[in-house]
Amino acid sequence: MSKDAVSIHGIWASRWVFILAATGSAVGLGNIWKFPYMTGVYGGGAFVLVYLICICLIGLPVMLAETLLGRRGRQSPVNTLKTLSRYSNASSAWSWAAVMGMTGALLILSFYSVVAGWALDYIVGMVRGEFAGIDGDGAGQRFGSLVSDPVRLTVWHTLFMLLTGWVIARGVVAGLERTLRILMPMLFVLLVALLGYSLTTGHFMEGVRFLFEFDLAKVPDGILAAMGHAFFTLSVGVGSIMVFGAYMPRKASIGSTVLTVGLLDTVVALTAGMALFPVVFAAGLQPNEGPGLMFVTLPIAFGNIAGGNLFGVVFFVLVTVAAWSSAISMLEPAVAFWIERSGRSRVWVTSVIALLCWVVGLGTVLSFNVLADARFFVSDADGWHLFRWTSEGGMTFFESIDYLTSRIMLPLGGLLFVLFAGWVLDRDVFRDELALKYRRLFPLIYSLLRYVAPAGILIILVTELTK
Ligand code: PFF
Ligand code: NA
Repeated sequence: MSKDAVSIHGIWASRWVFILAATGSAVGLGNIWKFPYMTGVYGGGAFVLVYLICICLIGLPVMLAETLLGRRGRQSPVNTLKTLSRYSNASSAWSWAAVMGMTGALLILSFYSVVAGWALDYIVGMVRGEFAGIDGDGAGQRFGSLVSDPVRLTVWHTLFMLLTGWVIARGVVAGLERTLRILMPMLFVLLVALLGYSLTTGHFMEGVRFLFEFDLAKVPDGILAAMGHAFFTLSVGVGSIMVFGAYMPRKASIGSTVLTVGLLDTVVALTAGMALFPVVFAAGLQPNEGPGLMFVTLPIAFGNIAGGNLFGVVFFVLVTVAAWSSAISMLEPAVAFWIERSGRSRVWVTSVIALLCWVVGLGTVLSFNVLADARFFVSDADGWHLFRWTSEGGMTFFESIDYLTSRIMLPLGGLLFVLFAGWVLDRDVFRDELALKYRRLFPLIYSLLRYVAPAGILIILVTELTK
């Protein structure tokens, strides 16, 4: 594999566009919706601490590995691993890691699109002024009536999937830059404004304490959840960052790029948490509300400030855009692969794959209403069952897909990617591709990749899954 190969799918105009695309992929519902609700479910500070450690010691090394492999391979993740393993005299079976990743990304897209649909519905709610003066109960009912309506959910899910497919069908490199360069900073500004509101609730410190105070004795609780979320939030372990790396210009420095993306993602998540929890406590809501947390909490903030409606409309539009730039990156690995393999047009390939994700997404739609009692992985008085009709225990369809992807497929994919970059790829190729400015850092980075990250992933996976 020559280092001067180029991708048939296009190339980013500069390092900044890669940063923008990777940040667009990373920053999404994971930060604003999932991070706060997981933190609430897993009890706060201890979860956040483990999450931050996992970002640094596992997430960033995996992101580095993916970017580097992608840029060296210049193809879809599957073919990148195939080519690089041939070049390294290793088994081409490594490419199965990317097949699993690609599948994981599509599974994530199936439910991500449904949740992004909630944000679309809230745009309309805001425009209609449904939230003026709303309290905790009212906001809870508003959310409840949305998720109990499968038709309404399906309409929004369909619209979001169309939006995502449309960008991918035109090609990622075109059009993304202009949109993201303006909208991502706006999202952040609005989050900071919300943070300003949470300061006025009188419960700000309570929120901060919830996020950052931890009891060491309780740390072991949500470790796998925290690691899984570190993968999810950085978009790593699935090949999304790898496929974007494939479109990265030669000159860009991988190390600083990865750090920038990781930092931005973390800052957005923590800001969202600090903006949300004070409102949760002020309204007397429970932090462990689950997936509805953000959709119940934020309307209270918007419903009770001057100009809140307009503010709310803009906010939910931006959340949709953030979700959309992430969704794009979930679809691209599979689309790029299938184009390379079949030679068919981008439009055709995108349509088929998006349709598939849409169908699987219907399972998530129904898991909040009609099929709420269809549970997988149930263990009850008479043993363990793969599937059961019950209103208690086990996981709904949505929860199962979320669990399978974040806690199993992403960590496994990430493990294989770092192992490949650290142990299969030639050390000199790795060093050459990384092209560090501060050469002394090389041993540190290389050992993070070879030892720390793989050992961390393995230990957490094995201890938590055998518990
Ligand atoms: N990182 C995205 C978020 O935090 O919302 C979610 C995501 C994007 C996961 C792309 C996986 C992926 F491939
Ligand atoms: Na994220």
